[in-house]
Amino acid sequence: MFKVDASIGADSWSAQWVDEIWHKIIGKVERMNESIGADFPYISDNGKYNREEADWWTNGFWPGLIWLVYRESKVEQLKDTATQIEAKMDSVLTEFYPLHHDVGFMWSLSSVAKYKLLGCEDSKRRAMTAASHLVGRYNAKGCFIRAWNQPERVGWAIIDCMMNLPLLYWASQESGDPRFRHVATLHADTTLREFLRPDGSTHHIVCFDPDTGERKEALSGQGYSPDSAWSRGTAWALYGMALSARYTGDDRYLDAAKRAAHFFLANVPDDGLPPWDFRAPWEEGMAMDSSASACAASGMLELSLLVPKGESELYRRAAEKLIFKLNEKYMAWDDSSEEAILKMGTANRPKNTHVNVPMIYGDYFFAEAVCKLRGVHDTFW
Ligand code: GLY
Repeated sequence: MFKVDASIGADSWSAQWVDEIWHKIIGKVERMNESIGADFPYISDNGKYNREEADWWTNGFWPGLIWLVYRESKVEQLKDTATQIEAKMDSVLTEFYPLHHDVGFMWSLSSVAKYKLLGCEDSKRRAMTAASHLVGRYNAKGCFIRAWNQPERVGWAIIDCMMNLPLLYWASQESGDPRFRHVATLHADTTLREFLRPDGSTHHIVCFDPDTGERKEALSGQGYSPDSAWSRGTAWALYGMALSARYTGDDRYLDAAKRAAHFFLANVPDDGLPPWDFRAPWEEGMAMDSSASACAASGMLELSLLVPKGESELYRRAAEKLIFKLNEKYMAWDDSSEEAILKMGTANRPKNTHVNVPMIYGDYFFAEAVCKLRGVHDTFW
C-alpha cells in the first residue's frame, strides 16, 4: 500500500530535490543526444539503446524528451536532433500502410511539440496528417478507433489509445473542425463503457464485431488475463482520461481518471515500483514496470489541475512521492555504462520481451512529471 503522508508535497520539502533531478535530466539528455542522435531508441539493452524502424510506436518519446529539455535549455543541437527525427518519420506518413493508431504517441511528442514551441507550419501539417489518419481508423458501428492493422484484428481496440486522443482534440482546436473531437469523445465513451471497471482497473484489449459493432470479448493482451490489471494499462487509462477531461470538461472522464488513480495508488508497492500486472501472482524476480509509475505520476499531476484544491493536493503529493521513490532506487544517473535514465521497465511480460530494462517512454514520462513538479504544466499532449 502506497501511503501519501503529509510531509510529502510541502513546497520546502520538494523544491530542492526536484530541481536537482531536473538538472540531472538535462545533463543525461545532452549525453544521450551525443550517443543516440537522430535515431529511434526504444529499449536499453546492456546499457545501450537499440534502434527501431521509422514506424515504431515509441518513436515520439525521444524527440519528446529532447523538446522537454530544449524548452528550458535552448541548446541548438537538441533542436536539430528532434527536427531530424521528425523528418525521418515522414516516410511513414507517406507510405500509409505502416501507420497504426499510435500516430498520437508518435506525432504529439514530435510535431505537435515542435509546433507548440516554435510555431513551425511543417510540423503542424505533419500532425494534422497524422490526426486525419487516426480519424480514418474510426469504426462507426462500434464507436471505437481500430488499434492495429492485422486482418484478424480489424475489430480490436486497446486501452493505450486513450493517449492517442489528444492529437485529435488538438487537431480540432487548431483547425476549428469538430470532427476530430467527435471521434475522440466517441472512442473515449466506448472506453468508459467497455474497458474501465468500477474498481478503476481496465482491460487491455476489447474485440468488437467490425460489421455490427457488437462487443465480443476482452483479451489479456499485455496483461496477465482478460480480467487482470496490467499496470501500464491502468496508467494509460488514468492519464488518457485526465487528458480527455482537460480537453472536453466532461466530468465522466474526470471521474474515470480518479478511479484509475485510486486503483493505482491502492496497489502500487511503497517503493513506487509496480509489478507488470497488479493481479499477476507474485514471484521471485518478478517483472516490474517503472514506466507505469512514471506515466501514472504525470497523469496524476494532470488530474491535480482539474480538481478543487483539497483534492488537488492528494494527487500532487502522490505523484511527487512516486517520482521521489523511483529516484531513490531506480535511476541510472551515475552509471556511465547506462545510456538511459529510468531502470526497471517491462515492455511485454506475456511474450517475455524486454523485462526489467530501461525503456524510452519510462525516461520520457519521468522527465515530464519532473517538469510538472517544477511548475511547468504545459504538455505536448
Ligand atoms: N502501447 C503498447 C505498450 O504500452 O506497451
